[in-house]
Amino acid sequence: MSRIAIITGASSGMGRRFAQTAAMHVAFDELWVIARREDRLEALSQELDGQTVRRIPMDLTDGEALERFTCTLAAENPEIVLLVNAAGFGKFQAVEDVPRKTADSMLALNCSALMDMCYICLPYMKAGSRVLNIASVAAFQPVPYITEYAATKAFVLNFSRGLWKELRPKGITVTALCPYWTKTEFFDVANNRTEKDRITYFNAMYDPVDVVNRGWRDLLKGRDLSTFGFIARMQILLVKILPHRLVMKVWCGQQKIAD
Ligand SMILES: NC(=O)c1ccc[n+]([C@@H]2O[C@H](COP(=O)([O-])OP(=O)(O)OC[C@H]3O[C@@H](n4cnc5c(N)ncnc54)[C@H](OP(=O)(O)O)[C@@H]3O)[C@@H](O)[C@H]2O)c1
Repeated sequence: MSRIAIITGASSGMGRRFAQTAAMHVAFDELWVIARREDRLEALSQELDGQTVRRIPMDLTDGEALERFTCTLAAENPEIVLLVNAAGFGKFQAVEDVPRKTADSMLALNCSALMDMCYICLPYMKAGSRVLNIASVAAFQPVPYITEYAATKAFVLNFSRGLWKELRPKGITVTALCPYWTKTEFFDVANNRTEKDRITYFNAMYDPVDVVNRGWRDLLKGRDLSTFGFIARMQILLVKILPHRLVMKVWCGQQKIAD
């Protein structure tokens, strides 16, 4: 039985960095990398010379593609030692300015596809297998003008932590990584470069290498939650104690958005 690691969102940003990190540290036979841009997956596999990389170009919001992936696993029956769900996107606009189709895709990718990947992969995991789902610091509070995104990440956080508890007796761990602003292509996707972009102020911007290193360390320790950076930790703490109306007022003030 071959041992495999699966990373979604491996074509850029934190997913790509997780793929590089896994290739350096985990013992497995194949690394399966998933995203839509095949050329990026090809470049990654060339970079990870010496590692057997299987490129799986697919849209995770496509139900038929997920079915084909499920059938591939059933046919090969591997042991999945690692699953990293990094694929996701957000939009920096008011709910009324985000097309409904885009909001539906966000929900489909950030929540349904992530949950489906857990459902699909768990039957192939054993004691010692690890799951890491990327949520966000935004998961802990309502965040106007990135409203749908923050709501999807609240789902990811709570789904992951609940699953962490359920799978403990089996020795499988689930870590919710909650990054603060991190310098990736996320911002190219979130901004439409029009006057409708409302999020313009970023009080800190972390390096994906540092965020992934912390996530990796916490994943190996089997922690349910992983955050990187003093500002991230302070924010999570403060939004637990402060009324969320006040938290939203401060956020809008930072973004220079009138109440
Ligand atoms: N950057 C931040 O400030 C930040 C903060 C908190 C949380 N996060 C979360 O961190 C995770 C990684 O994001 P990132 O910052 O690394 O951004 P990124 O560089 O834009 O990476 C997003 C990845 O998702 C993949 N993806 C997007 N739509 C997809 C689809 N329909 N099917 C399959 N793959 C898809 C993209 O690949 P293709 O385009 O090739 O499909 C890409 O590899 C996301 O869940 C994001 O929400 C980011």
